Amino acid sequence: MTSGLLRPRESTGTIVNMNRSAMSIPTTFTYANQTVNRLGYGAMRITGRGVWGSPPDREECLAVLRRAVELGVDFIDTADSYGPYVSEELIAQALHPYGNVKIATKAGFLRTGPNVWVPCGRPDYLRQECEMSLRRLGQDSLDLFQLHRIDPTVPREEQFGLLKALLDEGKVQAVGLSEVSVAEIKDAQRVVTISTVQNRYNLSDRRSDDVLDYCEQQGIGFIPWFPIAAGELAREGGPLHAAATAQGITMAQLSLAWLLRRSPVMMPIPGTSKVAHLEENLGAADVTFDDATFAAISAIGV
Ligand SMILES: NC(=O)c1ccc[n+]([C@@H]2O[C@H](COP(=O)([O-])OP(=O)(O)OC[C@H]3O[C@@H](n4cnc5c(N)ncnc54)[C@H](OP(=O)(O)O)[C@@H]3O)[C@@H](O)[C@H]2O)c1
Repeated sequence: MTSGLLRPRESTGTIVNMNRSAMSIPTTFTYANQTVNRLGYGAMRITGRGVWGSPPDREECLAVLRRAVELGVDFIDTADSYGPYVSEELIAQALHPYGNVKIATKAGFLRTGPNVWVPCGRPDYLRQECEMSLRRLGQDSLDLFQLHRIDPTVPREEQFGLLKALLDEGKVQAVGLSEVSVAEIKDAQRVVTISTVQNRYNLSDRRSDDVLDYCEQQGIGFIPWFPIAAGELAREGGPLHAAATAQGITMAQLSLAWLLRRSPVMMPIPGTSKVAHLEENLGAADVTFDDATFAAISAIGV
């Protein structure tokens, strides 16, 4: 596959309530003065089993990161908890000093073993993790710092207040939330500017439709995690097989192109540890659907 799969940057501002005809779908999104290609890359899969420790093939993972940028990806999602630390360390090794590539990291989970995720939103802990991400990523200020989860055991105003303090101090350039309701976003917005929201969302799981609609209304970037349902939507003979074949594209591409078409604030971050899957997934940026095809795919009962 050749380079240049993602389209060049456009000098658009934040997109709100735009016309959704296929021709006017923007390829970029702007949050907090950062304009990025909407199809990004999620770096959770470049770790060991259970998102714990080193990946089985470290060189391939470094190659994935470099190839992503070569192909035009300029938005990479990670977290302190991926590994923990492994994902951020690999990103720094492969890509520092990053150029125009924005690294979106997160904090808010303790990791005590493979597949174990314990919310921790104590402000002193979140501040420590921000400092440690700065050190690991080799940055003076994080491009986007996301609260991985609101910790139900800590007053949420304290968690949002810490995000505001980090923004005011210039430790972070923008703030995001993850797995939140519309009410929680509104609570946070009373304290700090929210640039992005990252919720689970894909063709087969649209429970966050209301959050997506609110983000669109507010000009907040919506980052759908699990965009191809961890590979399930790309499964041979799966529910998308016929529709993808009809379009002459792969099922992973169909899932991602559908997301890009669903909303101009959508910023999918498909995750993979393999260059071949990365190249396939980024091909979704070149797929366009007319309105009828989009409606038909939306109606697939997956
Ligand atoms: N905010 C949160 O709470 C949260 C939670 C989970 C994830 N995330 C973020 O969201 C990103 C994406 O989520 P995700 O990785 O869980 O789900 P995903 O992107 O839907 O799926 C990734 C999985 O699908 C496989 N895959 C990727 N491309 C494929 C293709 N073309 N054909 C077949 N299989 C393919 C990958 O395996 P291979 O490695 O073999 O390609 C990997 O196991 C993560 O990387 C992370 O940055 C955020």
